[in-house]
Amino acid sequence: MSNYKNDYLEYNVDADGVATININQVNEPANLLSMAFVDAFSEAGQKAIADTNVKGVILTSTRRMFMAGGDLRMLAKPVTDAKAFFEAVRGITMKFRAIETAGKPFVAAIGGAALGGGLELALVCHHRIVLNHPSIKIGLPEAKVGLLPGGGGTVKLPYLCGLQKALTYILQGRELRPAAALKDGIVNELADSPEEMMSKAKAWILANPEPIQPWDNKKHRIPGGGIWTPNGMMTMMGAVGNVGKLAHGNYPNQEHILKVTHDGIQVPIDRALEIEARYFTACVMSKEAKNMINTGFFQMQKAKKGSARPKDEPKYEVKKLGILGAGMMGAGIAYVSAKAGMEVVLKDISMEGAERGKAYSTKILDKAIAKGRSTEEKKAALLSKITPAIDPESMKGCDLVIEAVFEDPNLKDKVTKQTEAVLEKDKVYASNTSTIPITLLAKSSERPDNFIGIHFFSPVDKMPLVEIIVGEKTGPKAIAAAVDYTLAIRKVPIVVNDSRGFFTSRCFGTYCNEGMFLLEEGVLPAVIENIGKRIGMPVGALAVHDEVTLTLSKHIIDSNPDSMKDAETARSYKIVSSMIEKGRTSKKDGAGFYDYPAGEKKRLWPELTTMFNSKPDALDQKTIEKRLLHRQALESFRCLDEGVLRSSRDGDLGSVLGWGFPIYTGGSISYIDYVGINEFVADCDAFAKNYGGDRWAVPQSLRDLAAAGKSVHDFGKKILSAAEIKKLNEPELVKLANKMGIAATVDDLKADTLKKVLDKVG
Ligand code: NAI
Repeated sequence: MSNYKNDYLEYNVDADGVATININQVNEPANLLSMAFVDAFSEAGQKAIADTNVKGVILTSTRRMFMAGGDLRMLAKPVTDAKAFFEAVRGITMKFRAIETAGKPFVAAIGGAALGGGLELALVCHHRIVLNHPSIKIGLPEAKVGLLPGGGGTVKLPYLCGLQKALTYILQGRELRPAAALKDGIVNELADSPEEMMSKAKAWILANPEPIQPWDNKKHRIPGGGIWTPNGMMTMMGAVGNVGKLAHGNYPNQEHILKVTHDGIQVPIDRALEIEARYFTACVMSKEAKNMINTGFFQMQKAKKGSARPKDEPKYEVKKLGILGAGMMGAGIAYVSAKAGMEVVLKDISMEGAERGKAYSTKILDKAIAKGRSTEEKKAALLSKITPAIDPESMKGCDLVIEAVFEDPNLKDKVTKQTEAVLEKDKVYASNTSTIPITLLAKSSERPDNFIGIHFFSPVDKMPLVEIIVGEKTGPKAIAAAVDYTLAIRKVPIVVNDSRGFFTSRCFGTYCNEGMFLLEEGVLPAVIENIGKRIGMPVGALAVHDEVTLTLSKHIIDSNPDSMKDAETARSYKIVSSMIEKGRTSKKDGAGFYDYPAGEKKRLWPELTTMFNSKPDALDQKTIEKRLLHRQALESFRCLDEGVLRSSRDGDLGSVLGWGFPIYTGGSISYIDYVGINEFVADCDAFAKNYGGDRWAVPQSLRDLAAAGKSVHDFGKKILSAAEIKKLNEPELVKLANKMGIAATVDDLKADTLKKVLDKVG
């Protein structure tokens, strides 16, 4: 019997001699490209090739996704033997080559997303037919996790869509809808139904008994021309310039992609695949890729699954949401909540104000319609869910109320009491305050266990993070409700404990402060801004301060005079005040650290250099780089140390999604490991000595971790002594080794692993 199935696929041959390989990795949440899968696929493919009754093969999957990509669990593990890893990758592409060069037609019938390794698998096939459904995505997103497509994608894509598009798609990890993939030649046909897709696939096999891949076909021309054409040269030059400008050398995979494409296109495909495997190995071994996979993928997935919610609390469904305040934040919250299908009551003090808040949704939807991303029907449906209101009674019947009125404790006190008078006792009340401690605001509440902070970022419809703040008396039901609501509006929650500025504003504020201190110490403003961007911050420290407004910084300190006891706060207050005195308040007002001439690009305010007596050589570049990032990381670690952060991973995710801390470092906590915990502590100590101030004081717990040779993620975990490590059984020892970044399995000699672990512990 030639038909069979295993844990990876089902193999069937029909009466016309067409074989189908249906990918179905029954033990995995989705189909994934792993070594084991490639073996199974190769076995099935070779079986079809050897069988003279088989005319060709349809590769498909009846699961929701054709294939989600490479197995990141495998790629996240430490690799110490580069040669063995490289050979394993070569093994995969050689198996792929054996199939695509055997002379028998293979057709990919793609009925769901084909991403990363999934698309590379489809590229092994001679023809690709995709179900024309808008939910299906096709692409090579590896770059987003610090990698490059290592299963042939980097070298093959240019043959299909030309150098320029291939480079753009691979460097950005862009995913395409079926119609766009067809237009670019990445797939060959579309089908309107799964049945049509399968019958087209079969017809192609029967009509094309001797297929050849474009990269094996001497007559094939690369769309737009090869590398030594004027077009090709211009493309390469442009790409090199863009990568330099955007990645600043922080993302090694970006440069590796350029090299593979440049070198690979000039040599025969088998040699090109070898080059690709070499650079793929370099990517996988890089700290940057590990960080991006961990934070950008695993931690994100965990958070999206609600890992932060109390496990035993029942799911809290928000059918009706009340919002107090239809200003910038309230309007944004109304839009994202109505979009998720909730009934929204949007209350302000005047009907005009409430309507203006609703009009914000109209504006977003009109823009989306103009871009073809929404329809009049969808717009009408969404707008019908938002009811403007002025009466406090309108909050009756809401499952959750989010307060977003002015940042004024007295006003917040008033609206809390007004709302609780009508809100059912078992419902949850949240404040979107950006600075006032939740414990303080909860004093206005008669049910502080149902009182919580749900802190959004502006603009609400674009920013992915929501910071949930637990006050002293906040109960588990309120936490569950806040997390469930955040997930329902498709945002990523982190849960933190109460503190002034919570986690995000407090740590982000240190970036603004350090930028101002450097300015005060005579560093040229342009140097501060350029170095900020070079190290991967999305915006310079002075520019971003203009955006949040200097007036807000001053207001926050004015409303909490006690904070002036802190030297850093007092110093920043002085600088901010001196700027405000000169009428330099914000981007909004057209004048801050920058000038904002109408219709032109912003430029640094020329008088800054005289005001702060700037000198070209005030400080060296490395020190400036470190001060700007170390300061944020140190404050983040303090949040962990003080219990504001409940886990180191929340800090990483919150910093990356909340204020754009560069993801190549893994986030503002992982950054300390990225630098090296010992070096980080030594730098902070030197900065404390040279630049003064308590702000560089290193918590004892960080020194302890450094002394024990640990990772920042070991914070709060028991540090095992050498004697205790020796007592571990083999699986426990391997687990510990892997956590410490040592590649080890139970198949290794226990004594070897033990030695490596003890060496690292010191
Ligand atoms: P905003 O000034 O744009 O809007 C506040 C709105 O509240 C106004 O429309 C006002 O008419 C309304 N309001 C005043 N008294 C009211 C009452 N008794 N009942 C109902 N509505 C009332 O302010 P924005 O920027 O939307 O901020 C709101 C809250 O969100 C503040 O606590 C702020 O700190 C916080 N926040 C602001 C962020 C930002 O980037 N703007 C970010 C995160 C939080």
